[in-house]
Amino acid sequence: MFIHCREKHQFDIYKIHTEFCLDCFSYIKMINYIRKMHPEPGVLHEKVDNNKPLWQSDEYMKPILEDDGLLQFDIEDLCVESVDMLSCPGGHCSGGISSAVDSLQTGDERLLYELKAAQQKADSAEEKSFINDLVSSPDKVRTQSYHDAICLNPELFKDKVVLDIGCGTGILSMFAARAGARLVIGVEMSDVIYQAMDIIRENGLEDKVKLVKGRMEDVDLPVEKCMLDTVLWARDHYLNDDGVILPNQCSLSLAAIDDSDMYHKNCEFWDDVYGFKMSCMKRAVQREASVVSVDHSVVLSQPCVIKDIDIASCSTSDLEFTNPFQFTIQRDGHLTAVVGYFDVEFSGGQTKVQFSTSPFHTQTHWKQTVLIIDQPLSVNQGQIIQGQLSCKKNYKDPRSLVIYLSIDNKTYKYSMQ
Ligand SMILES: C[S@@+](CC[C@H](N)C(=O)[O-])C[C@H]1O[C@@H](n2cnc3c(N)ncnc32)[C@H](O)[C@@H]1O
Repeated sequence: MFIHCREKHQFDIYKIHTEFCLDCFSYIKMINYIRKMHPEPGVLHEKVDNNKPLWQSDEYMKPILEDDGLLQFDIEDLCVESVDMLSCPGGHCSGGISSAVDSLQTGDERLLYELKAAQQKADSAEEKSFINDLVSSPDKVRTQSYHDAICLNPELFKDKVVLDIGCGTGILSMFAARAGARLVIGVEMSDVIYQAMDIIRENGLEDKVKLVKGRMEDVDLPVEKCMLDTVLWARDHYLNDDGVILPNQCSLSLAAIDDSDMYHKNCEFWDDVYGFKMSCMKRAVQREASVVSVDHSVVLSQPCVIKDIDIASCSTSDLEFTNPFQFTIQRDGHLTAVVGYFDVEFSGGQTKVQFSTSPFHTQTHWKQTVLIIDQPLSVNQGQIIQGQLSCKKNYKDPRSLVIYLSIDNKTYKYSMQ
């Protein structure tokens, strides 16, 4: 569309972006200014008050058109990636991406560039991995489970108002709309919401699905929380007495593993790095809980459930706990680490759905969490290993946890993002 505006109407958004260093607010004001004042394109380059644009006043933050399509994406993303493309004749560059771009329609070009820009801008690990999932292989286990929990239980959704916290591309919002929800509100803090807006429109669901960009908590409570805290906060603020929360049950499990490769890479490696000792690196690496895919062949013991959480009724204090565990070792080996994972259940409707993130099930984007111990323990089949796990919030960084693992008379401390 901006290519068309430049070629047919001499309105060059990229030039204006460079000239006035447009950020998203300035862009919004400019669009509202154009809609209100109908200036000739050349007038937009005029400057007032020390090189400021004509639309500098905050009065132009007020939209002129309801649901203005031009205000539903982030200009900073679009301009970062599109300047090169537009500076080439005909709006196309040579090179790897351009051949793909050549064959795409204008709308697809924008999506491609916006996706790439969103990927570059993703600064949190969660957002990065989510956008990677989005661009490459979607997480089938998780999405299918949500699909079944929603679409096979339409009685829970019919004529209801649904809140989708962290809606990403809006896929779950669309499932809820398909299941008969009267209104779905999708809240998303990252820029992927601009793609979600396009997707909702593309599927003709804009009357049913309303998207809000921002942190869920920012409405009244500008406190950072971990994702589950956010869900509980939203439950307590917005869920009706007869409303449902999905998933509604979660259990956390642990098992012993024997993974000498992982132990070597993370621990022994630092004992001799080109002939130098780097023990402090070893401790730093060990202190981080690692989120990795664990192959079921390295699991040494029966799993042990360490915590059950009823998401519909628990409080945030239930997410901090200290519980004992016991592993029954199934074969001789070396216990190098403890693996943790969760199982969830979507119940309350006619069709119960569940999935597991254990090493014995199809991998999900959550993978598993591994706590490596300092010194591997030699263990034998049938042996019972007892220990204790504590999970606490890190009050210096509310989105991370501090985990204490006690095993074999030693206690290890880990941080987990
Ligand atoms: C794993 S993705 C799930 C996306 C989508 N619901 C799906 O199933 O495909 C989690 C999303 O939650 C968003 N998010 C995390 N914390 C949030 C918060 N406090 N407020 C709004 N969005 C949040 C992240 O940006 C991310 O896009």
